[in-house]
Amino acid sequence: MSLPVTRRSRLRDLLATPVGRDATDKVVLFSGVPAWVPRLVGGLRLDTLDRLVRPIVGEGLVDALIGLANAGLGSAAQDEPSAGEREPVTGPQPWWRSAVFAQVYPRSFADSNGDGIGDLRGIIDHLDHFTDLGVDALWLSPVFDSPNRDMGYDVRDYRAVMAEMGTLDDLDELIAGCHRRGLRIVLDLVVNHTSTEHRWYQKALADPDSAERGYYFFRDGNASQPPNNWNSFFSGPAWRWEPSANAWALHLFDQNQVDLNWDNPAVRREVADIVGWWLDRGVDGFRLDVINYISKQPGLPDGHPFVGRLFGFTGIEHYFHGPMLHEHLAALRRDGFTRPDGTTAVMIGETPGIGIETGRLLSGAGRGELDLVFNFDALETPGHTRWDDYRYNLGHLVDFWLDYNARVTDDWVALFLENHDNPRMVSKVAGQRAADPAVRVRVARLLATLLLTMRGTPFLFQGQELGAVNEPFRGIDDLRDVESLNRYAELVAGGMPAAKAWRQVLAGSRDHARTPIRWTEHQDDSSRWLRGHDRTPGFSVEAQRDDPRSVLAWYRALLALRRAHLALATGDIECVHRSRDLVAWLRSSPDETWLVEANLGGRVRRRPRLGVAAVEVLATTTGGDAARLAPWSAVISRLR
Ligand code: NOJ
Repeated sequence: MSLPVTRRSRLRDLLATPVGRDATDKVVLFSGVPAWVPRLVGGLRLDTLDRLVRPIVGEGLVDALIGLANAGLGSAAQDEPSAGEREPVTGPQPWWRSAVFAQVYPRSFADSNGDGIGDLRGIIDHLDHFTDLGVDALWLSPVFDSPNRDMGYDVRDYRAVMAEMGTLDDLDELIAGCHRRGLRIVLDLVVNHTSTEHRWYQKALADPDSAERGYYFFRDGNASQPPNNWNSFFSGPAWRWEPSANAWALHLFDQNQVDLNWDNPAVRREVADIVGWWLDRGVDGFRLDVINYISKQPGLPDGHPFVGRLFGFTGIEHYFHGPMLHEHLAALRRDGFTRPDGTTAVMIGETPGIGIETGRLLSGAGRGELDLVFNFDALETPGHTRWDDYRYNLGHLVDFWLDYNARVTDDWVALFLENHDNPRMVSKVAGQRAADPAVRVRVARLLATLLLTMRGTPFLFQGQELGAVNEPFRGIDDLRDVESLNRYAELVAGGMPAAKAWRQVLAGSRDHARTPIRWTEHQDDSSRWLRGHDRTPGFSVEAQRDDPRSVLAWYRALLALRRAHLALATGDIECVHRSRDLVAWLRSSPDETWLVEANLGGRVRRRPRLGVAAVEVLATTTGGDAARLAPWSAVISRLR
């Protein structure tokens, strides 16, 4: 690869960079164009390519790609091992590689005082749920003081607990309660932006000469013309007008979530101090919210309209992998996450838009940045977005995970199917058929098996262990999420018939995942902040706890198996069969080898002939036999 990439480079040089390789994957993902097409024209010079595509995509796209391809290969990253020099980690593995995390969405987990909102005491009271299940660590969605425009992802005070969730003492008790049970606990750190109610922002507004004014992106101007064409992820422009300051302020998310300027060393110091303060209190690390957005292209130039159309957000190429991202993360690791004894607390990056190769740059063990990244490309079948009502193809999931695993060296894959930002996977896979409890259980067990026998660190999202499905919300008044509400309003204002707008919002709403956990069969959710509507018998903790055929029991069994056999956690992986709906992989350590066979579709399939002698240990359903795999089923065997 010749670097840097220039207009005289060949397309293949661009595609050989991490960003170039990811860009190809994204085009394939968004458009469904076969992966070999970009490679076929690899010999083209970039200035020629520019001339060819300009009439279709407009000016400047090729230059934008060149800029992106060269970024991240600069300064800090250059001192770190290059792709070819990266070797697998040998010797003892960090704890989080063999761990299974459970994500808790505290607002909807357990409400101890009956005010309609889940709280820390509720989590403390239910910690046995996690030890019974057999996970190793919890990740809590935000609990810091917040006006909750975006349910805690808009922090007002990083050193205080949200009043409705409890107190700092409760949080200390929760941390201690986890540790007593051998559970680790990581919190959510939301530092790409703060709430507009944070004292930094309030000070910045009140006094243009304050140090805090430089913590944010303020731009002078006039009320009718935002400083650039960037969109907010939650609809509308990414700028809010502040009449009192006669200036615009940047917000990539809700207008009450204003972006911090990480190029200001004072901001970086503040964040490192916050991290240290919490680590001193005993937390084991953080999940870092949209952490790849913290470095913005200086000057905040306009986004390219074609890229904006492709991704649905104008401006994203100027911050999803910005010029100082690697430096800022390395500094945060050094100054915030590294403890006086030299150990580092775990850094899990939420990195939307990041592809496999840029993710690998961010998470290589030798690179001193993040430990794990969440890559979202697995979550939709190519050619679809979250807002489409379609049936998800599980083949994409396993192909993605296998491909990612084939590329890793000193890095590691974070595995997940659900979180608080996505609809339930059982519904995405089975659609209306999930209304049949038997199908629901089958699909939930299959998903559990794929997640917990794949190589990587699995993250479960609350409710997944019960086989939770999407909620039959009836109309926009049932929803609470700012993203859904804004999107619906924007679509309707743009002329879309209300029924069509509702279908779209219903397909993708984040509220499907945010309804209260069903602890009991006849739980009354009528006074909760968000109501759950699914009341299918048998899908509560109460109903499943002692039922050996339940989804919960299946998770428990799998987690126990995984814990007892390291090959299933950190062992090597080899795919030994892949055809239409069938997949089989081996997991092995020096002492043992396991075989996982799965039928990813809704029809019976002939079992692949693998020519290995295996002893069946666990099967998700009873419908299969030696020759066939039942619909949506998996079998785990031990090789003789
Ligand atoms: C990602 C979080 O997961 C999501 O819930 C939130 O709305 C945005 N980041 C903004 O903080």
